[in-house]
Amino acid sequence: MGHSIGRGEALVLAHYYAPDAVQAAADFVGDSFALAQRAVESDKPVIVFCGVSFMGESAKILCPEKRVYLPVPDAHCPMADMASEKEILHMRAAVDDLAVVVYVNSSARLKALSDVVVTSANAVKVVSRLKEKNIYFIPDKNLGAFVAAQLPEKHFYFGHGCCPIHDAATVSEVDAAMHAHPRALLLAHAECPAQVRSRAAFVGSTAGMIAFAERSDGREFLVATEAGVLYELRRRCPGKQFFTTRADFLCADMKKITPEAVQRVFAGDAAPVEVDENIAVRARRALMRMLELAR
Ligand code: 13P
Ligand code: SF4
Repeated sequence: MGHSIGRGEALVLAHYYAPDAVQAAADFVGDSFALAQRAVESDKPVIVFCGVSFMGESAKILCPEKRVYLPVPDAHCPMADMASEKEILHMRAAVDDLAVVVYVNSSARLKALSDVVVTSANAVKVVSRLKEKNIYFIPDKNLGAFVAAQLPEKHFYFGHGCCPIHDAATVSEVDAAMHAHPRALLLAHAECPAQVRSRAAFVGSTAGMIAFAERSDGREFLVATEAGVLYELRRRCPGKQFFTTRADFLCADMKKITPEAVQRVFAGDAAPVEVDENIAVRARRALMRMLELAR
C-alpha cells in the first residue's frame, strides 16, 4: 500500500485503554488530552496512533504536515457520532449567548461545528474560561453533567450521547465491588453515570485517576473505567492493588489494536489518515482553542 516506515521516523502514541503489549511498545502512553499535546509537540514526520479513530483524526487535524496512521482504522468510538448538525443548528438558532462545546470523543465533522473542543482532563477549566453564559455540551451527557455541577455560574444544555461502556456502570455493581474490597478507594471516569460518580473519591480523566492513585495514601483502589488503565496503574504504583468495578469493563474497539496491526503500519501496509480540508480547517480552530484555554 505504501513505503515502509523507519522506527526513528515515527512517534508511537498509545491510549491507556490499548492492550498491554501495545502500551508497552509505545513511545508515550496517555489520556486523550496528553496524547493530542504530545502529537503537536513531536518533531517526527510520522505519528502512529494506537487509539480509536477520533484520536488519529484529531492528531491529523492538529498536525496537518505529519503523516498519521491508525493501526486499526475501524476501531471507532461509538460516541463519536452521537450528536447531529441539525441539533447544533437548532440550538444556535434558539439560544442566545451560546457556546457549543464538543467532547473530543466526536467526529471531525462535529468538531468543525463547535466553538471549542474539550477532553475529560480539561473540560471544567476550558468551559469556565468561555465568555458565554449558555453551554451546549455534546455528545456526552454524563461528562456534561459532571462539568455543569462544578460551574453553577453557567447554564447547560446537554446532548443525549454517552459511552456505552462507562454508562453501563451501575450502583449495584459498584456497591458489590466496594463490599468485596472495603478498604479500596473508588476512582471513576467522568463518563460514568452520576450515581457512580457520587460514590467516588476521585472523578476525572484516565490520567487524573492515575495521578490520584500515585499521590494517595490508599493501598487499594477500585476503578470504574476501561481495564487497560490497570497496566499503567500497576506499573506506576507497584505497592498498591487495583481492581475494576466489573470484570468485563472493556472497550471492544480499543482492544482491536494489536502489536501485529502496529507492525503492519511500519511495513507500509496502511493508509494515512485523511480529513476533508474544509472540515479540518474549522475543527483545527476548535481544537487549538482547547489547547490555548487549557494552558
Ligand atoms: P480520557 O480522556 O480519560 O483518555 O478518556 C478517553 C475515553 O475514551 C474515555 O472513555
Ligand atoms: Fe469510546 Fe467508551 Fe471506548 Fe472511550 S471507552 S473509546 S468513550 S467507547
